[in-house]
Amino acid sequence: MILVVGANGMLGRDLINCIGDAARGVDIDEIDITSLESTVRILKTLKPRTVINCAAYTDVDGCETNMETAMQVNGEGVAHLAMASREIGARLVHVSTDYVFDGGKGSPYVEDDAPCPLGVYGESKLAGEMNAAFNPDHLIVRTQWLYGLHGKNFVETMLRLAGEKDVLSVVDDQIGSPTWTVDLAGAILALLKTGQRGIYHAANSGYCSWNEFAKAIFEESGLAVTVNGMTTDELNRPARRPLYSTLDCGKLEQDTGFHPQPWRSALKAYLQLRNKQNG
Ligand SMILES: NC(=O)c1ccc[n+]([C@@H]2O[C@H](COP(=O)([O-])OP(=O)(O)OC[C@H]3O[C@@H](n4cnc5c(N)ncnc54)[C@H](OP(=O)(O)O)[C@@H]3O)[C@@H](O)[C@H]2O)c1
Repeated sequence: MILVVGANGMLGRDLINCIGDAARGVDIDEIDITSLESTVRILKTLKPRTVINCAAYTDVDGCETNMETAMQVNGEGVAHLAMASREIGARLVHVSTDYVFDGGKGSPYVEDDAPCPLGVYGESKLAGEMNAAFNPDHLIVRTQWLYGLHGKNFVETMLRLAGEKDVLSVVDDQIGSPTWTVDLAGAILALLKTGQRGIYHAANSGYCSWNEFAKAIFEESGLAVTVNGMTTDELNRPARRPLYSTLDCGKLEQDTGFHPQPWRSALKAYLQLRNKQNG
């Protein structure tokens, strides 16, 4: 059995769907990963062969003011999962982020590049990556710019705003790879099948700015919204974000044969599925 922790979250729900019958999901109502006692108890009761951690404190700006919570959930929580999974002989898969990098490299990040987070969220996720090592049988999957059917995300925000405004300003100086949670789930399962350990990068292929992504969302949805540019400085959010944090997924492709689809075709597939579900 594969235990998905953070099962009610955006990635967790798609992972469970992709895994199928072998999946069991738990979230905060059953397990609190900030408690070693709670974590050990659930893992010892359920005895999974693999634990996939999708639980996190993902409010990037909120982390700046709630540093303690960020470190407890994203850092210590992973230590608890690593210790508990090691105790029952299970493998730990942990999901991490491009925000462990500062975005200053100027070309796609490979797994061995030195992390240098700009904010508390990235720092706490980096602590989580290091804590995953309490279980030697661990796999870390870094990803970025996620969207999916089951959570708050940029695509849904843009579609909501399109119903309220004809003109929007969206940042054009942050570059990354928008990634559909279904494709990330596929990449994680491919890594699991091949039994890999260590760090892997997984994202849809190609890259764009948030501004280009917004334009693509409106084009694919047939919505006439004017998208103007603005800088990250002008947006003035509490947390600093990496400007260029594209992840090189060559290691994933080489070791698994899994080739993530281009971000634009993933977006099309997502919107089709979304429209079907909404009738
Ligand atoms: N979203 C992105 O763009 C993005 C980008 C890169 C990496 N990631 C990483 O990808 C993973 C999945 O992200 P996501 O967007 O799917 O996250 P999400 O939708 O925020 O889901 C996280 C889940 O974890 C639960 N949780 C929070 N604290 C917990 C605790 N102490 N014990 C147990 N469960 C707890 C949350 O419950 P509540 O909702 O009740 O708090 C929520 O159901 C995370 O590791 C995230 O850091 C995300």
